Amino acid sequence: MENAPVNANSPIEKFDKVDYFKHVKTLKRPIINLTRTLPKPTEYSLALDNEYKDFAFNEERSPENKGLWRSQVFKTVDSHPMDVEIGTGAGHHFAHWSTRYPERLLVGLELKYKPLIQSIRRARMGGNKNAAICRYHAFNLDLLFSAGEVNNVFIHFPDPWTSPHKPKNRVVNRLILDLLFDMQRPGSFLDFKTDSREYFLWALEEIAASKYRVEFQTLNLYSENNKYKDENFATGFEKIFTKQGIEINFIRLIKD
Ligand SMILES: C[S@@+](CC[C@H](N)C(=O)[O-])C[C@H]1O[C@@H](n2cnc3c(N)ncnc32)[C@H](O)[C@@H]1O
Repeated sequence: MENAPVNANSPIEKFDKVDYFKHVKTLKRPIINLTRTLPKPTEYSLALDNEYKDFAFNEERSPENKGLWRSQVFKTVDSHPMDVEIGTGAGHHFAHWSTRYPERLLVGLELKYKPLIQSIRRARMGGNKNAAICRYHAFNLDLLFSAGEVNNVFIHFPDPWTSPHKPKNRVVNRLILDLLFDMQRPGSFLDFKTDSREYFLWALEEIAASKYRVEFQTLNLYSENNKYKDENFATGFEKIFTKQGIEINFIRLIKD
């Protein structure tokens, strides 16, 4: 299935072979329910497999696109930039990015049916053909993308998992960062924003253990005048948090 070059030392390639999750100990490969066996399909789960089936992929169909997103889904060339957004929510940024950059492609990951459909609907409403979305768990990213398949990555306001035993559920962790680093093309960025100071400070240690270079970081994105603030697009959750006066933690990582 894969047509991207494979790096034998890549954590993506090692994943299943040497039980990478076991090595890391705190993470397990998650298994999510199957859309086709839902006891009570909803208008959203039905839309995923019908109205939107050419650009929205359920958990069984999504991995069929690994290594083939550009050629098979978007019918375009390998040099076309393709970004990934993890946890699109209602899709405000997802739609914004695909509209603002029609020359780029965008693939979203979302677990829940309603926000997934809201995201793809919002993006395609204005006629955008450069967006697709998967119902997929972020911890299984390596089953969706090959090494070197992805350009920029957005992780905006992921669930913070702040109760004492839950940090293992956080998406920004050193294993996922290793996987993303291998998936990204050199020169790409990864943006992480969160309202949770606790998560952010924890993530900084995970980031320090990764191969990424930190281009910029702040504990209060809105307090300073800089290009990251100027270029910032406030997501749905971000608007709620800023209205409450909560500071927004932001970091941009670069794969050199
Ligand atoms: C707090 S919301 C933020 C949504 C959006 N990024 C924003 O800033 O408005 C987090 C979203 O991530 C999704 N999500 C949570 N865990 C996920 C996972 N493991 N894989 C993919 N999506 C996930 C949730 O369903 C939810 O829609």
